[in-house]
This record gives sequence, C-alpha cells and structure tokens, in this order.
Amino acid sequence: MEIVTRVADVRALVRQARAAGKTVGLVPTMGFLHEGHLTLMRTARAEHGLVIASIFVNPLQFGPNEDYAAYPRDLERDARLAASAGVDAVFAPPVEELYPQGPADMLTFVEVKDITERLCGARRPGHFRGVATVVAKLFNIVRPDVAYFGQKDAQQVVVVRRMAADLSMDVRIATVPIVREKDGLALSSRNVYLNPAERQAATVLSRALRLAEERLKAGQRDAAAIRREMGELIGGEPLAACDYISVCDPATLRELDTVAGPALVALAVRIGKTRLIDNLQWEG
Ligand code: PAJ
Repeated sequence: MEIVTRVADVRALVRQARAAGKTVGLVPTMGFLHEGHLTLMRTARAEHGLVIASIFVNPLQFGPNEDYAAYPRDLERDARLAASAGVDAVFAPPVEELYPQGPADMLTFVEVKDITERLCGARRPGHFRGVATVVAKLFNIVRPDVAYFGQKDAQQVVVVRRMAADLSMDVRIATVPIVREKDGLALSSRNVYLNPAERQAATVLSRALRLAEERLKAGQRDAAAIRREMGELIGGEPLAACDYISVCDPATLRELDTVAGPALVALAVRIGKTRLIDNLQWEG
C-alpha cells in the first residue's frame, strides 16, 4: 500500500487505474482509524479495483473552540490498519496541499442550506460548510465512482448526498451501518478522550436510543414524549450534559410531532469535555 501526500500523485494513480479499466472507491476519513472506518474500507475493497482512503484532519470543519489541535493523529498506525483492510493508497496531504493559502484565506465554499442548520449544524456553525467543501475537493481530486460514508454521522450523509445531487456530481454515495462496542458505544476517534468513568457514562447515548426504539416498537408515536424520556435518562447520568435530542424526518431533518413513517432519532451529548453523537434509523 502507498501513502500519497500530493494531489498530482493521487490523480496519476487514479488515471492509471482507470486506464486499466478499474473502478474507484473513496473512503474519506480524518484518521485515527477504528473498526467503523475499516468497515467502510473493506466494503469499498469488495466493490472496486482501486480503493483510496483519505486521512486529513480538516481544519475547515472545526470551530475556534473545538478540538482541531488535540484531534488524535497517528499516520503510521493508520497506514498499517488501512493496508490490512485492503486499501490500495492512503491520501494523507499536509494542510498546505489542500489549502495552499491556508484555510482562513479560502474564498470558495460549498454551502448546503437548511439541513446544515439543524441538529449538529445548529451547535457547530460552519461545520458542515467545512465538511461539504473538503468532501467536494476530495471528489474533484479522486473523481471516485463511489464514496463511502458511515451512518454514525447521519446528518453528514444527508448533507453530502444533497450536495452531490444539487451540484450534479458524478459519484454514488454508499453508507455502512454504525459499528459499536459490545456495550453499545458507537466507535469514534474521539472516544480516546474519555477517562474510565466517562467511558462508562458514554453508554448513555446508546441506552437513550435503545429506549427510543423500545417506545417506537411499542407504538409510541408522540415525538415530544420520546425526546422527553430520552432527556430524562440522560439527565440521570451525572457526567453527561445533553446537547440536543432530535426525532426528525430523515430527509429534511425537520423535527417531527408525530412519527408516522421513517424517522431519524439523533443526539449529541457532552461527556466531560468530549462531545459524542449517535443515532438510530427508524424505518417506520
Ligand atoms: P471521520 O470522523 O474520521 O469519519 C470518517 C467516516 O467514518 C465517516 O463517514 C463516518 O461516518 C465513519 N464512521 C465513524 N465512526 C463510525 C462508526 N462507529 N460506524 C460506522 N462508520 C463510522 O466524518 C469525517 O471523518 C469527516 O467529516 C470527513 C467526511 C472525512 C470530512 O472531513
């Protein structure tokens, strides 16, 4: 497996593969890889002749008081793991390669409206503009047939799909289900921030989602009642502070009054200083 740091070198790699008749799968990540990322990579491996995983902690999607500097990084370990998942090339550019004038001097952005102002977007202004812009750049660099994203970041999937559709991008967006620890905690690169007590408390997210699922299965259709019960469960965990709880339409991300069909149940919770997210797709 190769590690490529220059845009021109990735383009050359893709050109070669295409000339040999291969299709191209792209897995965008910010690294510090775990089984969630590796599931995306193995899925791409099964479907394409050339699999590229990008590893880039994107400064454009972090707010001024967020964890850009502290975000865990370990390219050597990531390269080993990506190779074990069958990735052909890791694209790990330095910041100047994607933002030659620096991220603060960018003049051009991809701005998806409305759906980016809800859920995480309401708490992280500019976050999805940063995500959409870097994903558009990666699509332009790699020109993949299929790009792979995890349901863990459900809003991100909705935003990327909408961007690709609205801007006529020639790429298919594929998703994989959330990969979890045995006790339910969704895998995340940010889980390394948790001390042992916080790690224990962090199961409150998946416990709240399980409660929502039980209520929905039992026929509860009142979205406010579901949000309230989830809030109470989270309120009972002293180390947890709820950021938001959403029971929304999975396409528009508008809050529901009544769950009459498919719904996205999503939440963000602070455990100490660490902000975690999780969600459940209710098929209706
Ligand atoms: P990152 O948080 O590294 O996640 C990379 C991909 O892995 C995303 O599509 C995410 O949804 C998926 N993923 C993370 N944890 C997962 C889990 N437990 N189960 C399944 N999939 C999981 O998301 C980003 O990076 C960035 O925003 C990015 C798209 C790379 C743009 O910078």
